[in-house]
Amino acid sequence: MRVTVYNCREFDEKALFLRYEKELGIELVLCADAPMLENIHLSKGSECVDIITSKITRELMEAFHKNGVKYLTTRTIGYDHIDLEAAKEFGIKVGNAPYGPNGVADYTVMLILMSIRKMKRIMERTNIQDYTLAGIQGRELKDLTVGVIGTGRIGRTVIRNLSGFGCKILAYDLYEQEEVKQYAAYVSLEELLQTSDVITLHTPLTDENFHLINEKSIAGMKDGVVIINTARGALIDSEALIGAIESGKIGAAGLDVVENEFGLYYYDHKSDILDNRELAILRGFPNVTVSHHMAFYTDNCVETVVRDSLISCKLFLEGKENPWEVI
Ligand code: NAI
Repeated sequence: MRVTVYNCREFDEKALFLRYEKELGIELVLCADAPMLENIHLSKGSECVDIITSKITRELMEAFHKNGVKYLTTRTIGYDHIDLEAAKEFGIKVGNAPYGPNGVADYTVMLILMSIRKMKRIMERTNIQDYTLAGIQGRELKDLTVGVIGTGRIGRTVIRNLSGFGCKILAYDLYEQEEVKQYAAYVSLEELLQTSDVITLHTPLTDENFHLINEKSIAGMKDGVVIINTARGALIDSEALIGAIESGKIGAAGLDVVENEFGLYYYDHKSDILDNRELAILRGFPNVTVSHHMAFYTDNCVETVVRDSLISCKLFLEGKENPWEVI
């Protein structure tokens, strides 16, 4: 039983892979790089390949097939980076490894608190021993209305987390969830946008909700509204967001995701000139907290994806029912 693991990160995943290699009785070939034609030979002799978000093109799929690969598992929830048509064509099954919603949900609440308590400004001041108070007065969550857009796995967990703070919670989704009604009131999108002090996004990105937060929707919001996005960058029109921050219409933002972040995040770009002006502008505002799409990144999440991707390979190889198989 052999699995070739690509993009194996030395600093957090490697020790886990070595542990589960022993525990599950699987032989692993660990490669630090993304799969490419230059290192595809490492998959020879492995029926399973374990990857992350690097693109798996038809060309790579064909090369895996020629090496005898039968199962491709991705240590992520999404699998849109894999050419599924090619997988079908070459008879390669595909699996994913979903992790729990708590990491992102906790992070969302942290961004809400950081935004309403002006934490970016506070940290910048303490770093330079500026211990003044002017301009850093915060607001209390219990006095605010939080609007949660999208009440799936993460949105629901955010609502549960928020329920202890005493704030009023509004929710909007295409489908209502009974559990949510214990803590929040479902309202129309329009009402949520008009009456929330804090708006947090938890929907996938679709053609219908591309730029859901735009110039028009922002115009209908409360003055000083706080926008939190830990879902997908393109749910917000960055230009409109920047304009509304400059005018003061939007009081603060917490953004774990931004538009056009692909290829930027998870690399060290310290010395580079980046071609994402919106990100540079947003990062510069004292009331905007930006992080690099890492709300998911916890010990629990990393262990879950390493473990489950290998268990799913084992189940596949043993011909057993595999709950992680997606096609
Ligand atoms: P989910 O699929 O469990 O829930 C999504 C919810 O959004 C569903 O209830 C669905 O009905 C609703 N929805 C879809 N389109 C909608 C629309 N136009 N208006 C209102 N509701 C709509 O997804 P989950 O796991 O809760 O993830 C939510 C978001 O978080 C996704 O965008 C996902 O990509 C993102 N995410 C971000 C991570 C990060 O590290 N920042 C990590 C994991 C997920």
